[in-house]
Amino acid sequence: MTQMTPLDTVAALGRTAAPPLSPDQIRAVRQEIQRFLLQYEFGLREIETKLTILRDEFLELHDYNPIEHISSRVKSPDSLLDKVARKGIARDLDSIRAEITDIAGVRLTCAFKSDVYRLFGLLTRQDDVSVLRVRDYIAHPKPNGYQSLHAVVEIPVFLSSGSVSVPVEVQFRTVAMDFWASLEHKIYYKYDADVPESLTAELREAAATAAELDERMARLHRQVHGGG
Ligand code: GTP
Ligand code: MG
Repeated sequence: MTQMTPLDTVAALGRTAAPPLSPDQIRAVRQEIQRFLLQYEFGLREIETKLTILRDEFLELHDYNPIEHISSRVKSPDSLLDKVARKGIARDLDSIRAEITDIAGVRLTCAFKSDVYRLFGLLTRQDDVSVLRVRDYIAHPKPNGYQSLHAVVEIPVFLSSGSVSVPVEVQFRTVAMDFWASLEHKIYYKYDADVPESLTAELREAAATAAELDERMARLHRQVHGGG
């Protein structure tokens, strides 16, 4: 008989034909997943601290806040299971750790595109941050118009048992890009992935309008404050 992994067990809990689990088994599985996800929570906190330190120092030195908003989340067990199934990843924690790099996610919203790249540079060049992957959807927007700068970074987290490296996906974007992405997400979900072509064309156009607004505001900012 093959060994049930914790996520198999969670998946089985939702099926009526699953063999009954004892309360102790359920508790053990829940604890193992909780501990697994807790490491990602700690990774998030490390990255958030780094970003807020950069923000606070910037504010002190330049009397200017380059960050409009920081939000973060650890993927819920449900959405993690969905992604594991969707991507056909083996249902054990080691495979999931290796294959899914957006369990911890931070979203950083800046006023201007120049701040997006500045913050990206300041975070990724820190000694304890290693960059696993960068996707620049600002330089190369997605076909639907989506823009953002994505980086998967790895950060050490020091536990009582030693240190673990935790991947965190950081999405850097401007307020205008964030506005577009939030609304696109809502529209997309309403249509349940079957978006009519007329709507996708309009969404692309709206993304171009958002990018234009970014440029205009940056120009105004330069006119008033000088520099980039
Ligand atoms: P996922 O498996 O969804 O994580 O995609 P991926 O591994 O190909 O990564 P990608 O960089 O394309 O996207 C990662 C994340 O960026 C998503 O989970 C969303 O938060 C965001 N994102 C990417 N594309 C879009 C988009 O077209 N619209 C919106 N609203 N968000 C997007
Ligand atoms: Mg994702």
